[in-house]
Amino acid sequence: MTVADAEALSIGEVHSLYRAHVNSSQVTLMTTFGFGRELVDHAEGAYLHMRDGRRILDFTGGVGVLNHGHNHPRILAARKAFQEARRMEVHKTYFSPYLAALGHNLAAVLPGDLNKSFLPNSGAEAVEGAIKLAYKYHGGRRNTIMHADISFHGKLLGSGSVTGGAQNHFAFPAIPGVVSFPYDDLDAVRAAVKQARNAKGGCDVYAILIEPFSASTMRSCSEEFLRGLRELCSAEDIVLIFDEIYSGWGKTGTLFYFMRHPGLLPDVLTTSKSFGGGKSSISAYVARDPVFDKAYGNLTDALLQSTSTTYYGFGEETATAIEAINVAVEEDFPGQARRIGRLLEPGLRRLQHDHPDIVADVAGAGALWGVFLRNNVKVLDLVGRLAPKGLAKDPLFATKLVTSAVIDALYRDHDIYTYYTLNGRSPLVAGPPLVVSDVDVKHFVECLDATFSVGVPKLLVRFVRERVSSLW
Ligand SMILES: Cc1ncc(COP(=O)(O)O)c(C=O)c1O
Repeated sequence: MTVADAEALSIGEVHSLYRAHVNSSQVTLMTTFGFGRELVDHAEGAYLHMRDGRRILDFTGGVGVLNHGHNHPRILAARKAFQEARRMEVHKTYFSPYLAALGHNLAAVLPGDLNKSFLPNSGAEAVEGAIKLAYKYHGGRRNTIMHADISFHGKLLGSGSVTGGAQNHFAFPAIPGVVSFPYDDLDAVRAAVKQARNAKGGCDVYAILIEPFSASTMRSCSEEFLRGLRELCSAEDIVLIFDEIYSGWGKTGTLFYFMRHPGLLPDVLTTSKSFGGGKSSISAYVARDPVFDKAYGNLTDALLQSTSTTYYGFGEETATAIEAINVAVEEDFPGQARRIGRLLEPGLRRLQHDHPDIVADVAGAGALWGVFLRNNVKVLDLVGRLAPKGLAKDPLFATKLVTSAVIDALYRDHDIYTYYTLNGRSPLVAGPPLVVSDVDVKHFVECLDATFSVGVPKLLVRFVRERVSSLW
């Protein structure tokens, strides 16, 4: 098949090819929702344009990837210029001016001596790289790594091992020495560090990972916790890693969440998602000079920092990220997120007030908010009995079902695309691109209001009858 052949496929043909060559149960699962049953023609800004001409407001923000919106003109122009000049993508033995400039830009926008970058492809790879760096910093003499219980750091063997949460069972072998602590609980971290001693009584912890803002639960660490953690890590020479893969590039109202606290600095920062401007699959870990230099600053180890031998720092990916950072700074993405938050937060809080039987809680920051729905509707008992045992065993099954029914209704009745998080308490996420207009934010709140006004029992019955019962 050619690209043109692919673009001519109907949705039915795409489903059949997925069943034959990708993953059959993925098709069964995703066709539960309206968006699994149609194809996107093109996308621009905050909108998806469907093949049938419908225009969908994309309030998912591409799950963190689309702060710039779809196909930002400056991102497209940077990629086009790169291609038209026939620039080189591949070789690592020629120095890349793009990689040099991107490293410079990262250091310029980040505080302190966060100056050394490595540029792999995915968030999980950046986390793996950060873990390796911390381990190497201690020359293999420490063997414990700590993470928070509600963390999400990725799905590779290392990043999956340090991902917590009961909902997030990682059914694969874990790296050794992993210890978990309750999120935002400094006393618990202190106690766990104290316990992790080597045979000589010295500290055995080589790294602590934390998401200052957890996008899967919409919780954030207190300033006191983050500063206390910094102090503890400095005192014990533990490499402190902030994972801001989701929350970076302005999303929560500051360039990175931790930057709202002046003087606060991790030893390593991981970033990805909107770092690629919505086009490039690129991530980074950025390390403080002394940490990086101690780990890899010698000729024998000079090439050990990579997480892939082949795919890192490719030309067009890095050129795109240079432009993505410049757009984020010049278009004041943190300010845009605060603008959106000034409309979204009071709007969602009003819905919580007006629909107390449906909305249990609202939490978030800047342009990233979670709406936590109640799961106390009577009809759920019956649905729970009908559902396949495997699904109904999930303690969040009822919450996910109610939230799915709301997401389905927003899509079907109002042409708005949203999602819920798979871990935490599975809130419905309102996290639009930072280029979304005020009018669209207000429209979203009005449509959510109208959806809640239909009532959860009615939404649930329609969702189960028309979308999922045939699959059960
Ligand atoms: C905070 C955080 N860390 C790590 C990851 C993993 O990134 P990736 O999916 O690119 O591997 C994610 C992805 O959602 C994330 O939100």
